[in-house]
Amino acid sequence: MCFTIYHLFSSPLLLYTGACSPVVLAAGPVAVQHRQIHHALIPKGKGGRSSSSGIAATVFGASGFLGRYVVNRLGRIGSQIVIPHRCDQYDVMYLRPMGDLGQIIFMEWDARDKESIKRAIAHSNVVINLVGREWETSNYKFEDVFVTIPQQIAKASREAGVTKFIHMSHLNADIRSPSKYLRNKAVGEIAVRDEFPDAIIMKPSEFFGREDRFFNHFANMRWFGKAVPLIAMGKKTVKQPCHVVDVAKAIVNAIKDPDTNGKTYALVGPNRYLLHDLVEYVYAVACRPFVAYPMPRPLYHLAARIFEMNPFDPWTTRDKVDRFHTTDMKYPGLPGFEDLGITPSSVEQKAIEVLRRHRRFRFLEAELGETKPAKTVTY
Ligand SMILES: NC(=O)c1ccc[n+]([C@@H]2O[C@H](COP(=O)([O-])OP(=O)(O)OC[C@H]3O[C@@H](n4cnc5c(N)ncnc54)[C@H](OP(=O)(O)O)[C@@H]3O)[C@@H](O)[C@H]2O)c1
Repeated sequence: MCFTIYHLFSSPLLLYTGACSPVVLAAGPVAVQHRQIHHALIPKGKGGRSSSSGIAATVFGASGFLGRYVVNRLGRIGSQIVIPHRCDQYDVMYLRPMGDLGQIIFMEWDARDKESIKRAIAHSNVVINLVGREWETSNYKFEDVFVTIPQQIAKASREAGVTKFIHMSHLNADIRSPSKYLRNKAVGEIAVRDEFPDAIIMKPSEFFGREDRFFNHFANMRWFGKAVPLIAMGKKTVKQPCHVVDVAKAIVNAIKDPDTNGKTYALVGPNRYLLHDLVEYVYAVACRPFVAYPMPRPLYHLAARIFEMNPFDPWTTRDKVDRFHTTDMKYPGLPGFEDLGITPSSVEQKAIEVLRRHRRFRFLEAELGETKPAKTVTY
């Protein structure tokens, strides 16, 4: 019976009840999955957490910042989610209530073990790669994390007949970038496209949210003196940050929409700011005095080098300094949030959620009313 229903439609995703948009229903057939249909791929119910969306997704890198938002968004529409992790299982237990009972499956994996990748995607029709790291370790260089691992996951996904593969890149991924992270992201995009031509590549700008390493990073700089060092006072860098929830929504909407396969999305917030003005706004919302001073790049690198000697997680690195002082690219030709049906939130709407914790107790509940919005630029 289930098998018959499946063959009436070419993809279980087209049957997704919560996403019965005309686009979904009107779309032509997509690639047929030549695998035995699992009951988790049969959509049923009204579309809530306890229904079945027809999505069985493996989320690599779910234990990271973006991962929790993606898992929650998938869980609340009733998807089955496989979470490969390399940490202790108790460290990812906060993800368990995000899905209905039995819908979230934890699995150990080793990025260098191809069999463990195959096992993790064996029953999924959607694979999402969120693996990333801001610094290199002795075990994993940027090339491993941003090129080899995504390539292996893409290859295994293609061989397993996965219908949707989503890869997270970066807006400023560029082979000529001063940042090694961004250079490897650019190579990773090509490697993924070669292995899985229908891959959906997401290129978000730096995204902010409660657990981010962007707004929190600048707000935490107050611990190292009363002033914030910025290259050229941050007046030569333009940033267009987006909100983490919008990025997670974009991923889920790209899964639901059958026309997204093979496309690259540039995900940016609604406004562009000079880095100086953005950090000034961060301090204004945190109700802290803001004093910036110009720091020459070599000196900034020297300071970052000292942090890099930390055998645990370095607070900053030379690469991060370069990445944060890279102007966000404009991609007028690429689809973005709007094409996925999302109106991106502005910094002014959401920054308070991140920055309230940086306030002194007496300002904790202070209204934002008098905080001047950051100046925007158009270039
Ligand atoms: N954050 C941003 O502003 C931003 C902007 C643009 C693009 N991106 C990209 O978006 C993706 C998600 O970002 P994020 O901020 O959520 O990253 P994150 O918080 O650093 O999380 C990265 C995830 O990747 C996993 N991972 C890293 N190295 C691994 C390895 N060698 N083997 C297995 N797992 C590994 C981590 O697992 P463990 O927990 O076990 O370490 C973690 O789950 C990344 O690709 C990132 O480059 C992020």
